[in-house]
Amino acid sequence: MQNKGIFPFTERHIGPSLQGSRAMLAAVGIPSLETLISQAVPKSIRLERPLDIPEAVNEAEALAELSAKMAQNKTHKSFIGQGYHGTHVPAVIQRNLFENPAWYTAYTPYQSEISQGRLELLFHFQTLVTELTGLPVASASLLDEATAVAEAVGIAYRHHREKRTRVVLAGDVHPQILDVVRTRAEPLGMSVNGGAINAEVAAIIVPWPDTYGVYRDHSTAIQDAKASGALVIAVADPLALTITAPPASLGADIAAGSMQRFGVPVGYGGPHAAYLAVADALTRLIPGRLVGQSVDSKGRPGYRLALQTREQHIRRDKATSNICTAQALLANMAVSFAIWHGPQGLQAIASRVHSQAVRLAAALEAAGIGLAGKRFFDTLTVDVPGRAGEIAATAEKDGRLLRIIDENRLGLTLDETTTEADLQALAALFGAILPDDTDTRLPGERRADGFMTQEVFHQQRSETEMMRFLRRLADKDLALDRAMIPLGSCTMKLNAAAEMLPVSWQSVANVHPFAPADHALGYKALTADLETWLAEITGFDAVSLQPNAGSQGEYAGLLAIRRYHLDRGDAHRDICLIPESAHGTNPASAHMAGMRVVVVACEEAGDIDLDDLKAKAELHGANLAALMITYPSTHGVFEEGVKDICAIIHAHGGQVYFDGANLNALVGLARPGDIGADVCHMNLHKTFCIPHGGGGPGVGPIGVKSHLAPFLPGHVELNTGHAVSAAPFGSASILPITWMYIRMMGANGLKRATEMAILNANYIAGRLENHYPVLFKGRNGRVAHECILDTRVLKESAGVTVEDIAKRLIDYGFHAPTMSWPIPGTLMVEPTESESKREIDRFCDAMIAIAGEAAKVASGAWPKDDNPLVNAPHPADDVLADDWSYPYSRSEASLPAGPSDENPKYWPPVSRIDNVAGDRNLVCSCPPMQAYS
Ligand SMILES: Cc1ncc(COP(=O)(O)O)c(C=O)c1O
Repeated sequence: MQNKGIFPFTERHIGPSLQGSRAMLAAVGIPSLETLISQAVPKSIRLERPLDIPEAVNEAEALAELSAKMAQNKTHKSFIGQGYHGTHVPAVIQRNLFENPAWYTAYTPYQSEISQGRLELLFHFQTLVTELTGLPVASASLLDEATAVAEAVGIAYRHHREKRTRVVLAGDVHPQILDVVRTRAEPLGMSVNGGAINAEVAAIIVPWPDTYGVYRDHSTAIQDAKASGALVIAVADPLALTITAPPASLGADIAAGSMQRFGVPVGYGGPHAAYLAVADALTRLIPGRLVGQSVDSKGRPGYRLALQTREQHIRRDKATSNICTAQALLANMAVSFAIWHGPQGLQAIASRVHSQAVRLAAALEAAGIGLAGKRFFDTLTVDVPGRAGEIAATAEKDGRLLRIIDENRLGLTLDETTTEADLQALAALFGAILPDDTDTRLPGERRADGFMTQEVFHQQRSETEMMRFLRRLADKDLALDRAMIPLGSCTMKLNAAAEMLPVSWQSVANVHPFAPADHALGYKALTADLETWLAEITGFDAVSLQPNAGSQGEYAGLLAIRRYHLDRGDAHRDICLIPESAHGTNPASAHMAGMRVVVVACEEAGDIDLDDLKAKAELHGANLAALMITYPSTHGVFEEGVKDICAIIHAHGGQVYFDGANLNALVGLARPGDIGADVCHMNLHKTFCIPHGGGGPGVGPIGVKSHLAPFLPGHVELNTGHAVSAAPFGSASILPITWMYIRMMGANGLKRATEMAILNANYIAGRLENHYPVLFKGRNGRVAHECILDTRVLKESAGVTVEDIAKRLIDYGFHAPTMSWPIPGTLMVEPTESESKREIDRFCDAMIAIAGEAAKVASGAWPKDDNPLVNAPHPADDVLADDWSYPYSRSEASLPAGPSDENPKYWPPVSRIDNVAGDRNLVCSCPPMQAYS
């Protein structure tokens, strides 16, 4: 029951008021919301009953309920390690970055001019990784440590033109890394084992240190690898790298690992940023995003995503990887941690952890306890024949968790948060007494100073400076806290504060992913609720929350299909049909899952060409594995024939994969499972309110019908396998965001949100269609939750390109809609339900004004090569310059909608960035200070 007088959360989440929605309906000439929905959504797919989701509760009630649930988690101090470490999140970073909507509500920095702040920080992240690893090129984060190592193997595979199929383990990596690498390698026909290094070996994996914490001598394996042309992949702990030799000096071609212990809570497994760095020769094979330096139209330095075209429009069947959403927010937290501490601070943390480990080791040795190895950083593997369980149980009673490797061995991993009391207690468990010893057990020489010499790692020592540094960067960017971000297919809706609060709770942040099951009962309850609700919302029988992005959901779903066919003896079924309008991750995921992609044509009106689909399903019938379909389509319409499409695929023995990126048009109205899909991914970072973080984190769970349930991802810690992420529940600590959203919306609120998203999109289509043709509409002339505006009319009349319009929108204070996807020369607009009529009108007014500006160019009032459109955006420096030689005024340039107190001016820090110049001369990290001397 909602308390009387308190606005229900639904009204906070949905932008338009009752009057606003009535006015919008009147403007599009529709009597009611029901009529609009019946016109837009085909009757054949409608869900004719309410969702079976608990009735909504208000913010305070939902927070209390979730808090009680999560209080069941035990937040013992963890010494489990195995890739996850305790860390102190500096308060200045927690408050000014992690919990700051200016940072977490930003989108992936595709529009570079409004993203300079987060691009700059990601550039520093890349610089940090190159400094730690000694390798010259690093990407702007990967999804987790295990997938980063799998991506490194992928690089080696492609480097050898997919001809070398063996990967050799030079030592023991963490079990979850091995499992994910094997999951990924198997569909490509690769094996991952020990054994001799020969000409079939694509790469060797060198753990630095290994899962037992030991640094072993891998020089022979590395020499053999070099001699046979195999790449050397080092899996290295970044904190240890501040005091040990960098992987490049060992001969590594690639280094990968997790940046979690740089100030990101363990959060029951994620989200955290992983890092990946490569040698120069491998730059063009690096997956994910790469931030590069370029110049703007005035020659000022500016950042942008380098080699961008290969990524968002991922090179379809020739894709190098399917990574789209990554871990931008967490990468920015990690580099902020490094900036805050500086190289000396990091070394001090590392040295302290190491000397604690050395003292503990000396105590244990003196007490006659055997250790796995002599050279270590922070982890000791202790021989306790037959006593592992008993000792771990004693530690647990005292609030500490140890890693039980087997009945004879325990793992003890120390970290930044380990105290003297912890050390005493750990020693006492083994009857040992701590000495004062501060010896070293590091491999080789201690790393000398002289890394991370770039200014940024030395300037922010006082909190005032750090606070202002983060503020200065955030101010450069345009995120949802300033204006609507109408990105089609991205669903940039409200990330409500009440949804975000629980992410910072200790009961959510401080649970190790491999803690005993009875330590994570809160998480168990949370994930059970979510699995049930998401299954009900999508019409499936089982849900896996493990994939940590939409792309990973696609991959996990296709793997489930692949394993289903294999299980039935249909190994030959490897053809994946994909419509030409699909997102680039679809063919990339299919390729990675070992499938052959066959493209299906689309009709002029945007629908899948049914004749072509039938012909291809027939032609490939015997070998058909799956169809991947996005619904409503990436053209923004509900195709009438979707059920027939599914039936055709099933008739030929194939499975239907449903890309749920556009689920915001379906929730409460129709369910993929009812439509005929066998598996579907849900982007929780779109429809279910997880913020985009400037390019991640994300969560991409999959729902499946019962026949695919046995093939969902498992996990070594659960004694199963085929994992697609390092942790059993992927990015578990952000699941409370979605839980809060569903709990506060209830079945009615969720359905209402979908209806309002459709109304907002149709209102925009109605307001703008006289200025920009709306491509693709459904049978009744209605669009779904987004619409595609054809801007090529302005190109024809005035030479104004879609890019000019996107950049000019910045002067009006907006983030451009999705540009040139899926159709070149168009803008795909998705307002979501969270935007009010006032904000939508402001956007429509800006778009109409831009059409008016183009008309002035067409009429000759402004020259084609010198007008506010081609020169956009206009930074303050240019507008304030003494010299102004343009044929339009300063205010026409920078305040085209007029001054407004309600919508304060957003000033882009740079003018248009030159992408080509940056790609021609790739600069992806800041040179060290020595380079300037
Ligand atoms: C239609 C579609 N499919 C898949 C994806 C990939 O999702 P993610 O970025 O979470 O990997 C996107 C991302 O925008 C998308 O729009």
